[in-house]
Amino acid sequence: MLNQNLGQGRGVYISTYGCQMNVNDTERMLSLLEMVNFVPVESPDRADLIILNSCSVREKPVHKIHSEVGRYRELKEKNSSLKIGVGGCVAQQEKDKLLKDIPLLDFVFGTDAIDQLPELVARAYLSGEKQVSARFEHDRPYSVETMVRNPGISVFVNIMKGCDNFCTFCVVPYTRGRERSRDLSELVQDIRALTARGVKEVTLLGQNVNSYKSQGGENFAQLLKVIAEDTDIERIRYTTSHPKDFNQELVDISARYRSKICDYIHLPAQSGNSEVLQRMNRGYTREEYLDKVTMIRQGIPGVVLSTDLIVGFPGETEAQFEDTRTLVEQVRYDNIYAFNYSPRPFTKAARWPDQLPPEEKQRRLDILLKLQREIAFDLAKHDDGQVFDVLFERETDLKGQIQGRTTKNKIVFVDSDPTIIGQTLPVRILKAFPNVLRGEVMPSPSEVMA
Ligand code: SAM
Ligand code: SF4
Ligand code: F3S
Repeated sequence: MLNQNLGQGRGVYISTYGCQMNVNDTERMLSLLEMVNFVPVESPDRADLIILNSCSVREKPVHKIHSEVGRYRELKEKNSSLKIGVGGCVAQQEKDKLLKDIPLLDFVFGTDAIDQLPELVARAYLSGEKQVSARFEHDRPYSVETMVRNPGISVFVNIMKGCDNFCTFCVVPYTRGRERSRDLSELVQDIRALTARGVKEVTLLGQNVNSYKSQGGENFAQLLKVIAEDTDIERIRYTTSHPKDFNQELVDISARYRSKICDYIHLPAQSGNSEVLQRMNRGYTREEYLDKVTMIRQGIPGVVLSTDLIVGFPGETEAQFEDTRTLVEQVRYDNIYAFNYSPRPFTKAARWPDQLPPEEKQRRLDILLKLQREIAFDLAKHDDGQVFDVLFERETDLKGQIQGRTTKNKIVFVDSDPTIIGQTLPVRILKAFPNVLRGEVMPSPSEVMA
């Protein structure tokens, strides 16, 4: 039986790397630790428990863990009760090797071991011995009620975990395990509980949300329909959708429930060249990807698209990179997330001989980023003077300024008092920058009449 006063009011500090799943996992870790009386603190020097929630998707992740833990050496020397642990994708990848390589660490826990965290911490404190728990729980059904301490207006909700796609560049199938979906009725209950706590918007999370499959056989489009119809949630977002699984049914349901399902779609292309896409094992060609873009734009006019791109994939020629550049030019995304290819452990592409030099990858990346800056600047001009429905989420650090988002995921700042937080109001855009808009709340019809 776990001691409910394990933490005795001591501080816990978590530093989070990586994607929204890790952000969500950190929130779960803090909720679980608060239940056994740890208190979240904003700075590591006030903590008796420090956790690094790690990411392994790109560039020297193990090195980052070494250097952050190294910064805590002095704290550990001053405070004998300080325990330091690593969770997340690097922990899953390296397991007990991390404990051997970084003597300052007390425990390591994998991506399927988050719910065991309080027990693991208890064992680390009580036995004084190093602890590791990093086995995948592939046989267990995936059931996970969303845990958020102060939910606010917008909350992440996991709908599935893991990935079975095995893109040849990507470590995620090895760090998050096999794909598993949550039960549909559990999800609906979860979202109802969140709306009862004042939540207005959910972002449904998964590595490949559109391969969601409920036990009853419902797919992702049908899940969206059920959430739109059977809960009071005002806005639904999701990430990430895989182009190969984006179908007409999903477009139709997004269009039908457009008042709830946000018109922003992140559709990672990774490359604009069909041969590279084949070597990446993405399951679509350039032409098929462009057909999906056309299908989405025809079905949901005005929808905003963003993407992920990798440059310098092994063997990528100048002409193949040029195809990625023209894809960006042709699609005119609102936003791109472009990365230099980074060889990852266990992955096929990391073993291929024709790796590109870092300077060449950087040159290609710079070309894409420059092009995208021009496109985004140009697109932003269209937002000037427009009126958007904005859901207001929070105060900013500037007094009297409130921040919200349009359904197209653009951040909007207005001058107002905090009473508008949680409301969706029409806002006229006074000045548009790429991804950030400044506006004024439009007066309501009754205010105009008066
Ligand atoms: N599931 C998502 C999909 O299929 O598009 C992607 C998830 S991954 C965590 C986020 C992004 O990281 C990918 O879209 C890809 O652009 C980038 N990425 C993944 N592995 C990479 C690697 N080895 N080198 C560079 N970027 C990588
Ligand atoms: Fe990685 Fe591909 Fe799975 Fe996305 S779909 S998480 S890129 S293996
Ligand atoms: Fe990183 Fe793991 Fe997310 S590798 S991007 S934290 S799934």
